[in-house]
Amino acid sequence: MRTIIEPFRIKMTEPIKLISREEREKALEKAQYNVFFLDAEDCCIDLLTDSGTGAMSTEQWAAMMLGDESYAGSKSWKKFETTVQEITGIKHVLPTHQGRAAEHILAQTRLKEGDVIPNNSHFDTTRANIEYVGAQALDLLCSEGFDTTSEFPFKGNMDLQKLHDCIEINGVDKIPFCMMTVTNNTGGGQPVSMENIRAVKALLDRYGIPLVIDACRFAENAYFIHENEPEYRDKTLLEIAQEMFAYADAATMSCKKDGLANIGGFLICNDDKWAEDFRNEFILREGFPTYGGLAGRDLEVIAVGLMEALDYDYQVYRHATVTYLGNKLQKIGIPFVKPIGGHAVFLDARAFLPHIPPLQYPGIGLVNTIYVDGGIRCVELGSVMFGRTDEQGNEVPAPLELVRLAFPRRVYTQSHFDYIIEVLEEVWRTRGKIPGYRITYQPKFLRHFSCRFEPIE
Ligand code: F0G
Repeated sequence: MRTIIEPFRIKMTEPIKLISREEREKALEKAQYNVFFLDAEDCCIDLLTDSGTGAMSTEQWAAMMLGDESYAGSKSWKKFETTVQEITGIKHVLPTHQGRAAEHILAQTRLKEGDVIPNNSHFDTTRANIEYVGAQALDLLCSEGFDTTSEFPFKGNMDLQKLHDCIEINGVDKIPFCMMTVTNNTGGGQPVSMENIRAVKALLDRYGIPLVIDACRFAENAYFIHENEPEYRDKTLLEIAQEMFAYADAATMSCKKDGLANIGGFLICNDDKWAEDFRNEFILREGFPTYGGLAGRDLEVIAVGLMEALDYDYQVYRHATVTYLGNKLQKIGIPFVKPIGGHAVFLDARAFLPHIPPLQYPGIGLVNTIYVDGGIRCVELGSVMFGRTDEQGNEVPAPLELVRLAFPRRVYTQSHFDYIIEVLEEVWRTRGKIPGYRITYQPKFLRHFSCRFEPIE
């Protein structure tokens, strides 16, 4: 059969409602044109993020009841530790309340002012945690990653030459570790090949620099390796993940993505000294290291979810939903990042709205119109999220202006996707009328979450 079906049936439902266009306009104005301030119940289809928004399986709900809420050394912790070790082979496992807590502890314990941390592309919280301690977060993405039309299958790869030059220029002492984000969320959810991970590790080994994987979407990355690197065709996703982690000295993880959980994360490492420093910081920030800011039932849920994310049928279905949307958009002529990423479709707002200059934030114009036209919430990944200020105090636009439609895991069905397509087609037809925006308030860090806008008439 050609039709790929959801490999589950629905046992519990949650009502959603489309409020009127007038109500949506009012809600957006009240939110000062930042969709992070909308009430979730005013968003009929919420594609703001795939983080913590998934539906749990029956196995996960059942596992919740087994939660051992002991403060230290609980049974749930043991299950969590064993599962993470089975997938990663990494010695020390510390649960965190979410991914950025792992990043925070890593940055606080290992970095000092003036250090330089290369990555294919840092996610915003990773960058912020690094910059918060006065270190520099460098993106060394391969050139294909900047070309939204390139069909190269591994556009999340690190540029090895740039990495080599970065080490030579800054010196080993300034680079306490290098990171790799799988898949590369910032660059369009694009995967990293095993060949690239291996080559990065080999290069770092020559200088004795540890590799830290940002593993949020490790299972989706494993799926792409399975599909697009012929030597992995006969391996299971678990085996592929195990090899990916075999090249890592440490990893940060948000279990809100490929842990198929609504909350949680971890920080793992092989080095005993790193682990000792992490544990000391943990007690101050997260909690005792065997629960680390999570309830025992969360640890249970994640232990099940991490393995479910590595189920091949689940990944086939997940990828099929994203591809379904991408293929329809392609037919309409809507510009988006190709090939289609693992967890989202990234619209190219610059090509969609060429009449809006980057510093009038075309991504915000598109996000807000998609909300008003269809009650669909999505997010800008462009100059608001990733723009920076240069030494003269001028705002520098981000290299790409993207709008992400991220797909919660196991939540929406094909008719929801058909509705999304219909809305986007209408937005595309009337795109000439979409305004740019100016910022009326912004905080110092992670401004996209809380800045306010007004449309430019
Ligand atoms: N790294 C990557 C690649 C991420 O995508 C995220 C979160 C994090 C780290 C931080 O994890 O949210 O658990 O603290 N990304 C979410 C998103 C927020 O919408 O893409 P967290």
